[in-house]
Amino acid sequence: MGLITPNDYDNLRALYTGQLRYLLSTENQTVAGLESMIKHAQDEQLKQAFQSHKQETQVQAERLERLIADLNGDADDLKDPIITALIGSGVNITRESSEGPVRDAGLLATAQKIEHYEIASYGAATAWATTLGLTEHAAALQKTLEEEKHSNELLNKIAQRTNSEAVVA
Ligand SMILES: [Fe+2]
Repeated sequence: MGLITPNDYDNLRALYTGQLRYLLSTENQTVAGLESMIKHAQDEQLKQAFQSHKQETQVQAERLERLIADLNGDADDLKDPIITALIGSGVNITRESSEGPVRDAGLLATAQKIEHYEIASYGAATAWATTLGLTEHAAALQKTLEEEKHSNELLNKIAQRTNSEAVVA
């Protein structure tokens, strides 16, 4: 794995390229995290939302790989510790609950934390691409950003129903 040293980020383009590699790690880890959440969720609509977002996430990772290649960047991802921790919190919820609406509420909240982290990360990356004059990059990142927002809204809708079921579980 190509390591980052302090001198690597001497301008915005370098910082942006590094950020894309962290985002690639975010997406790759999210695919694995969603696989686990699909397995442990009970609600069918929630499982389907996780499943369709997993497929979307794989496309998002490929999109990032193309952008990194376009910048001639090191193609390895850089392990993002934030997403590792967020996915870990979902694993803890699975361990600490039985299958059913309460676990679903916890997994749903974990997925939304991931979405919010991604929304913040893609928001910054899109702004940087725009500043750098990388119009096609900005458009590609904006597309992912909209997908993350849409996924978060869908989870909001599902939560309105499933959280109520968890009250009386
Ligand atoms: Fe994503």
